Amino acid sequence: MSAEVISGKEMAATIREEVKERVTDLKASGLVPGLAVVLLGEDPASQAYVRSKNKAATEAGIHSRQITLPEDTPEDELLGVVAGLNADPDIHGILVQLPLPNQIDEAKVLLAIDPSKDVDGFHPINVGRLATGDPDAPAPCTPAGIIQMLLRTGNDPSGKNAVVVGRSNIVGRPMAALLLRKARGGNATVTVAHSRTPDLGAVTRLADIVIVAIGQPDLIRADMVKPGAVVIDVGMNRVEDDTRERGHRLTGDVAYDEVSEVASAITPVPGGVGPMTIAMLLSNTVDAAVRSAAAEE
Ligand code: GUN
Repeated sequence: MSAEVISGKEMAATIREEVKERVTDLKASGLVPGLAVVLLGEDPASQAYVRSKNKAATEAGIHSRQITLPEDTPEDELLGVVAGLNADPDIHGILVQLPLPNQIDEAKVLLAIDPSKDVDGFHPINVGRLATGDPDAPAPCTPAGIIQMLLRTGNDPSGKNAVVVGRSNIVGRPMAALLLRKARGGNATVTVAHSRTPDLGAVTRLADIVIVAIGQPDLIRADMVKPGAVVIDVGMNRVEDDTRERGHRLTGDVAYDEVSEVASAITPVPGGVGPMTIAMLLSNTVDAAVRSAAAEE
């Protein structure tokens, strides 16, 4: 069996068009959604993400502001920038690109973002809302994109066994919370496996849906996947490859070729989950703008 390839690239383009239509309607009523993306330092991967986020926002008609600060920016200064964005009526969504340099306490920065402008869903209030099943909590962008990928390919998680491999705050934990929620895209039986799980294959083989976000190239092999399972690969690993001009290539956490022979559907890397994250950021920004307008009425 050769798995259906779930193209995040195509699906993200569709969602971005949907967002653009919503933005056009909002603009007609005088509301221009605004997004600010804050980046510290010059890490090439983060720079590339942030550039893509800004470009996508602008293309969707969202007012987009990129704030780039030096790597050695003191914590106080970053908190000052966040306070300025919290108070700015033109900005409805704030994203501070993670990870942050060592001199900055990440938790302190996330706590400083106005929860109503938290388009990442990383503020502890929003994390708590999601964990307690609030259907209106802002959903972190990568897991929210994955839920869309499942729903839009006819793989509703409701009633399924879902195994999440990885327990990061950005992907694994919120992914599990979304799958567990009593809401559309949820209602799964959820297991979270991680780096200390012995015999990972014994756990993943039980899954109807496997979501892997652990940062280990080719960790998930064909014999770890139940025939017919849906496999979502969040991995973005840079591995050396002399056959490529750059000397490296991007690969996921799943051994794609062999798992494709077992799974019913699979996401590629690149072109899978990555583009969906950006599309959901735009969607969350529009949601935040709509909520802010409703709160003013
Ligand atoms: N770094 C990697 N992914 C993300 C994300 O979704 N949000 C933020 N803020 N930083 C990230």
